[in-house]
Amino acid sequence: MSTSEDGMHAEDWAGDTGRIWLANLQRFETMIQPIGAALLQHAAFKPGEHVVDIGCGGGGTTIAIGRAVSPGGSATGVDISADLIWSAGTRATQGTQSDVRFVCADAASATITGAPFDRLFSRFGSMFFPDAPAGFRNLRRMLKDGGRIDLAVWAPPFENAWIMTIMGVVAKHLGQPQTDPRAPGPFALADTAYVRELLEQAQFGSIEITPFETLMPVGGAGATPEEAAEFVSKSLSVARALEAAPEALRQAVIADLAAALEPHHVPGKGNLLGGKAWLVTARAV
Ligand SMILES: C[S@@+](CC[C@H](N)C(=O)[O-])C[C@H]1O[C@@H](n2cnc3c(N)ncnc32)[C@H](O)[C@@H]1O
Repeated sequence: MSTSEDGMHAEDWAGDTGRIWLANLQRFETMIQPIGAALLQHAAFKPGEHVVDIGCGGGGTTIAIGRAVSPGGSATGVDISADLIWSAGTRATQGTQSDVRFVCADAASATITGAPFDRLFSRFGSMFFPDAPAGFRNLRRMLKDGGRIDLAVWAPPFENAWIMTIMGVVAKHLGQPQTDPRAPGPFALADTAYVRELLEQAQFGSIEITPFETLMPVGGAGATPEEAAEFVSKSLSVARALEAAPEALRQAVIADLAAALEPHHVPGKGNLLGGKAWLVTARAV
């Protein structure tokens, strides 16, 4: 079993990890909302464009893209988790958008009906391919020549106060994990030289990588430190680290997480910690 940069077992997005993301969708989406908003603004979609949202999760960004490309365009959310795709489809039909659809597929290998598209987009959905070079070559095949890709990927952990705070507590109780920084996981594309390499070998050019920093509500908007600590212990990679831990150790980690988040708590807003992502733009050549 491979490990990710945060030292835990690789995510099973098609199974349990996808279901955990869905069960905590509002917390996860509000936590990364500022980065989605920045990436959508950066992408500047226009009416008439046909866009694929890679690793679309619960579909929040896909629906926003659908609005931006209307009239005449379309937004297709692709995700490997059948549970998330089912939920995203339900969410879309609650609105009135006919130009949004969701497809359950592995974006690293699937051919998506409607290809080639004008644009690809992904907020944190492109770092989990077991074979990243092959996965990026498949993304290139989804695009028209000259088509544009816009990705948000996490900058290195040491530049992300939110994960340093969480992993500091975990390391205190469970030790410092040994990791391969490029193994599939949230921080697999943190090295910008590696991102350029991946894009170039997949026939992308005009690569631009822009840093974006923000405060993020860890545990979701409005969460108390205790709620956020409970959420983190059950739903991020911390959950997998604690899987086999005795209950007393689990409780000690939760108490320490709450104490570590407390100084960052702003009533009504949540536990605001720094987050840094790369906004990556390139063109298919
Ligand atoms: C961190 S979540 C981000 C979800 C969504 N983009 C958002 O910002 O709300 C990563 C998403 O990528 C999806 N994913 C992981 N590997 C994938 C693959 N090979 N093909 C398609 N989706 C994948 C997961 O199922 C998950 O929904």
